[in-house]
Amino acid sequence: MSTLIKSLAGLGLGAALTLTAGTSMAASCGTFTNADGVVEDLACSSAPIDFTNKGSLQNGAKTFMNYCAGCHSAEYVRHSRIAKDLEIPPELVEKYLMVTTDQIGDHINAEIDQEVQASWFGAAPPDLSLETRLRGDDWVYTYLLSFYEDPSRPWGANNLVLKNAAMPHVLHNMQEELSAEEFESEVGDLVNFMAWMAEPVRHDRQVIGFFVILFLLVLLIPVYLLNKEFWKDVK
Ligand code: HEC
Repeated sequence: MSTLIKSLAGLGLGAALTLTAGTSMAASCGTFTNADGVVEDLACSSAPIDFTNKGSLQNGAKTFMNYCAGCHSAEYVRHSRIAKDLEIPPELVEKYLMVTTDQIGDHINAEIDQEVQASWFGAAPPDLSLETRLRGDDWVYTYLLSFYEDPSRPWGANNLVLKNAAMPHVLHNMQEELSAEEFESEVGDLVNFMAWMAEPVRHDRQVIGFFVILFLLVLLIPVYLLNKEFWKDVK
């Protein structure tokens, strides 16, 4: 019996150690071959997600509509929801952010023709509404920062995270014009916006979750005392 308990405890400890090791390691965003020809893991960079920073979300929305909505759809996102959640006056959304429609209630680019695009690029640009939930915020952030020049590719660019990506390096001009930090911050805002698109209530959910757990912990005290009171004569 005692050996059984020992081995069970050992298993538990082993599992706990594996779990902590797993979480402390940076997730991998693919592999690349370094200058010496050795294949290395590419660690994901961590995306600066902050839904309370409306300026960042607004800037991300601007970048998304100007640089991405030309090819990608985000068919679960309405322009009117952007106006409401990101606190942008609807007139400004209509004037500057509606590049593919003139109805503020419309979804972003929902009518996009996947087949035509696939014939242009070799692969159709996927819908990006839920992209950060599919791949993770950090994957998308690292992907957008990992384009490099590669003359062998049709658009002259390749990507470390998604090898031989069919997508051109659409932020190339922006990257040329800005310093490395400024470019990272622009891409950070863009991914922040994409994370908002994928789950607009994410921040509220986390805040509510915190208070629910807090409430349950506080409730534990009277419940424990009541339990003691109810059982005191029975024992
Ligand atoms: C010229 C058209 C075009 C534009 C503009 C464009 N993309 Fe793409 N994108 C593509 C294509 C094509 C693919 C498919 C790549 C593949 O599968 O090889 C793609 C793939 C992606 C993927 C990877 C999807 C996956 O999970 O495999 C992400 C993320 C992405 N694009 C984000 C963006 C963002 C953000 C922007 C705006 C900064 C943008 N794209 C602008 C054409 C475009």
